[in-house]
Amino acid sequence: MAFGRTGWLGVLGVSALFAVVLTGCDAGNAQADGAHTSAAQAADASGAQIRKVSADGAAVLPAGGQTRAQVYESVRKMTAVGKQLFFDPSLSGSGKLACASCHSPQHAFGPPNALAVQLGGQDMHQQGMRAAPNIKYLQKVPSFTEHYHDSDDEGDESVDAGPTGGLMWDGRVNHARDQARMPLTSSFEMGSSPQKVASAVKAAPYANEFRDAFGAHVFDSDDTTFKAVLEALEVFQQTPELFYPYTSKYDAYLAGKAQLTKAELHGLQLFNDETKGNCASCHISQRALDGAPPAFTDFGLIALGVPRNRSLSVNRDAHFYDLGACGPERTDLKGQGEYCGIFRTPTLRNVALRKTFFHNGIYHSLDDVVRFYAQRDTNPEKFYPVVKGKVQKFDDLPKKYWANLNTDPPFDRKPGDKPALDESEIKDVVAFLKTLTDGYQPEAPQQHADAHIVSSK
Ligand code: HEC
Ligand code: HEC
Repeated sequence: MAFGRTGWLGVLGVSALFAVVLTGCDAGNAQADGAHTSAAQAADASGAQIRKVSADGAAVLPAGGQTRAQVYESVRKMTAVGKQLFFDPSLSGSGKLACASCHSPQHAFGPPNALAVQLGGQDMHQQGMRAAPNIKYLQKVPSFTEHYHDSDDEGDESVDAGPTGGLMWDGRVNHARDQARMPLTSSFEMGSSPQKVASAVKAAPYANEFRDAFGAHVFDSDDTTFKAVLEALEVFQQTPELFYPYTSKYDAYLAGKAQLTKAELHGLQLFNDETKGNCASCHISQRALDGAPPAFTDFGLIALGVPRNRSLSVNRDAHFYDLGACGPERTDLKGQGEYCGIFRTPTLRNVALRKTFFHNGIYHSLDDVVRFYAQRDTNPEKFYPVVKGKVQKFDDLPKKYWANLNTDPPFDRKPGDKPALDESEIKDVVAFLKTLTDGYQPEAPQQHADAHIVSSK
C-alpha cells in the first residue's frame, strides 16, 4: 500500500502535525540530540559511570568521580578529535578519501561536485549507487519504524503515517556511530577495515589527543580504537554551530528579521498550497507549536517513482533495481513488497548547495526536480524513456510495486491535465528553496557558515 502524507495531514490538522513530528522525534532520535545527549555518551565512552544527564542538562549526578564540567570537557575533546577524523583521508584504504571528500563543509556537508554518485574504493574509481546526502540537520531524524504514530497530545495516535525515520536513504541504520562503520568499510567508499583505521589513528598527528579524549586504554585493541573513532565522529556531527545552526534567510524571515522577495514569498505559498506544489505535506515548512524551527521533512519513506539513472554502473544490469527500504542495501525488509521503492524524504535545508538530486542523483538542477514534481504525470515523456512511441513510466520500479507510488497532489494527474505548477511558478518555488541556505546575513553579502573550518582540511 502507498502511505499518503496528505491523508494523515488532513486528519491531524496541519499545525498539530508540526508539533507532533518534532516532539515525537525527541523520544527516539536517530542521531542523538545535541550536547546533552553527547555528554551522556561521552561519559559512557570514556568509561565514567555517569548515571543520568537530565533533559535540560542542569543536573548530572556525579558518579565515577566525574563532575559535569569534566563531562563537558570530555565532549569538547571528542569533538576536536572527531573533526580531525572526519577530514582524515588516511582512515581510508586508498589513503585518498575522507568523510569530508563526499560530505564537504562548504556544501552543507554534502557532495562538492555534480557527480550523480561519488567515487571511492581502493583505486578511487568505484561507483556507489546513491547520491551522497547533506548530513546537516540529521539530529531530529527519529529511529526507523514501520508504523509511525505521533505521540503528541493533540495528535491522533491511531493514525499510521507509515515507514518513517532512520539514517541513509533507506533508513537502515539508527545511530551515526553505526552509520560511520558503513562508509569506512564499504568496498566502494573508504574501503578500510577496523584494523586499518586503528593503525591510521595510532600513526596520526592527533594520536595523543585521541588518547587524551578516550583514556589510556583506547589503543589496547583495534576494536576499542575503532569504536572510539565511530563515537568521536558521531559527537563531532552533533556540533550545533556546524550541523544545525538554523541561519538561513527563511529562519530569519520566521523570526521577523528578514523579508522575502515577491518571488520567494510566492514560491513559499506554492510550496505550502495543497492544490499546487503541496511540498509542505512532506517537507514541513512551519515552526512547531513549541517554536522549534521546521526540519523541511517529516522523515517519511515515500516512493516518488524517480526515473532510472542509466549513467550508474549498477544499472548496466537491466535486472538490477535499487528498491530502497526493501533492498538490496537494506536487508531486514527484504521480500516485503510494500517497502519497495521507498526512500526517506530528505530535508530541503541547504538543498540549493547541491548539484545532484534524488537518491540516484538523476537530476542536476532544482528546476528539473521541481518540474519532475509538476509534470511527472501530465508529461511523463519528459522524464522517462519513450520506446516505440510508448512512455516507459516508472522505469526504475518493477510494475508489481507501483501500488507503493505516491498519488497525492501534485501526483494526482494524467496526460492532458494542467500541470500543478507552470514554468514561472516552478521558478518561484526554486527561488524559495534558495532561502533555505545557511549563513544568511541580513545586511552583508552572503557567506557560508562553515567557511571557518575549511582550513582544517
Ligand atoms: C564515497 C563517498 C562517501 C564517503 C567517503 C562517506 N560518505 Fe557518508 N554517505 C555517502 C552516501 C552515498 C550516503 C547515502 C548511502 C545510502 O543511502 O545507502 C551517505 C550517508 C551518510 C549519512 C546518513 C545521511 C542521511 O541522510 O541519513 C551520514 C551520517 C554519513 N554518510 C556520514 C559519513 C561519515 C561520518 C563518513 C566518514 C566516516 C562518511 N559519511 C563517508 C557517501 C559517502
Ligand atoms: C509525498 C511526499 C513528498 C512531496 C509531496 C514532495 N516531496 Fe520532495 N522528496 C520526497 C522524497 C521521498 C524525496 C526523495 C526521493 C528519492 O530520492 O527517491 C524527495 C526529494 C526532494 C528533493 C531532492 C533533495 C535531495 O537532497 O536530493 C527536492 C529538491 C524536493 N524533494 C523538493 C520538493 C518540492 C519542491 C516539492 C513540491 C513541489 C516536493 N519536494 C514535494 C517527498 C516528497
